[in-house]
Amino acid sequence: MASLTVRQIDEALKQQLRLRAARHGRSVEDEVRTILREAASDTETPPSPGSGPMPAAKPVAAKRVLLIVGGGIAAYKSLDLIRRMKERGLAVRCILTKAAEEFITPLSAGAITGERVFTDLFDPAHEFDVGHIRLAREADLIVVAPATADLMAKMANGLAGDLATAVLLATTAQILLAPAMNPRMWMNKATQRNLAQLIADGVATIGPNEGEMAESGERGLGRMAEPLEIAAGVEKILKLHGAPRPLKGKRILITAGPTHEPIDPVRYIANRSSGKQGYAIAIAAAAAGADVILVSGPVNVPKPQGVTVIDVESARDMLAAVERALPADVAIFAAAVADWRVANAGAQKIKKQAGAATPDLALTENPDILSTVAHRATGRPGLVIGFAAETENVLANAKAKLAKKGCDWILANDVSPATGIMGGDRNTIQLVTASGVEAWPPQSKEDAAATLIARIAAALNGEQN
Ligand code: C5P
Repeated sequence: MASLTVRQIDEALKQQLRLRAARHGRSVEDEVRTILREAASDTETPPSPGSGPMPAAKPVAAKRVLLIVGGGIAAYKSLDLIRRMKERGLAVRCILTKAAEEFITPLSAGAITGERVFTDLFDPAHEFDVGHIRLAREADLIVVAPATADLMAKMANGLAGDLATAVLLATTAQILLAPAMNPRMWMNKATQRNLAQLIADGVATIGPNEGEMAESGERGLGRMAEPLEIAAGVEKILKLHGAPRPLKGKRILITAGPTHEPIDPVRYIANRSSGKQGYAIAIAAAAAGADVILVSGPVNVPKPQGVTVIDVESARDMLAAVERALPADVAIFAAAVADWRVANAGAQKIKKQAGAATPDLALTENPDILSTVAHRATGRPGLVIGFAAETENVLANAKAKLAKKGCDWILANDVSPATGIMGGDRNTIQLVTASGVEAWPPQSKEDAAATLIARIAAALNGEQN
């Protein structure tokens, strides 16, 4: 059958198909083909007359990843990692160490893998059914995330006292570690010795990243790599040729975070932007194969792997860095740039003097980075995207901003305090383009980033405007 036309698909379903296709880096036609293929391989092929039953076409077996979750605060991110790996068509099984069960439950991991979760070495039911040797043998790749200092030490020394370490000792599959621990534990000579041993043994590693630790006030090298970064590492090791790389060859420039506008050498004006949304977009763009330049204001978010990060402080620094980073195919302005800076910033610390008047701060307008880039006569990126964080009349203001700033898309979101979006982990976005408004469901900032990247890929591939 050369072609198939399906009529009477309603607009909502079409939109769902477009987003799904974009998420997988496929054309809508290819996506529908994939859905049909999957659905068809679920049904029995009718026997052909006279020749006995025909075997149903066998779907290509999914690659199998065994995820071992160690006991650390980063274990909660492993649940997202399972989702990211499943999105890539991988079959995921999960082992939780005893310590991991202090952070997440077999129930939650099982709900996401859709499989039984394994915890015990000496569980008679498992040993007769899926024992540790079978778990080790039936994996194309074993991912340990988070890999704690304890797990790494046990692995480096060949200990096998529980299910996780027994499987790690019994496997011949490639192992990928995503270490996560306190920076001092990471830098400890014993951990570094174990790491060197594990690398010499052929174990691959990803991260840790630098950034804020779970313990308040702690920073440094020790945060587990983000789930999307680990998923990209998994793709690379398993050579998932089908893995979506819809932005391969595209250069994407992103601004993120607040700006700091100096009052004097020690004081500044800032805002509540955390940078989380911009950083999530950078990670999603890199995972989609783009060459990503992230111009970042001062934030406490770990630097993503595989992304070029340029740190800046003020709006004027940010504009200069953005102009240096051009040309780009797409520019996304997620930074919360201060609209004003202090015109008469002190060269020295302004002194508080008894009886003296309070300092008079004169404000002057900052350059509008988005508008400057969107109005460039030459070297304007093909797709310029801005954000409109509003506390009232969200859509009307966003539409006005689209026109005024000269950008192609505006991502409008309500940041009134009741929404908890500013600095929070979730976001509700409406995409405003010249052709209309798309309301995206409330979702995590990571999912909002993935939706945006999928939507950009669809636009660049000519499927949507
Ligand atoms: O005008 P408003 O600040 O609401 O516009 C928000 C959008 O414009 C965001 O995309 C932000 O990154 C961008 N912007 C900018 N430079 C400024 C002010 C805003 O790039 N000085």
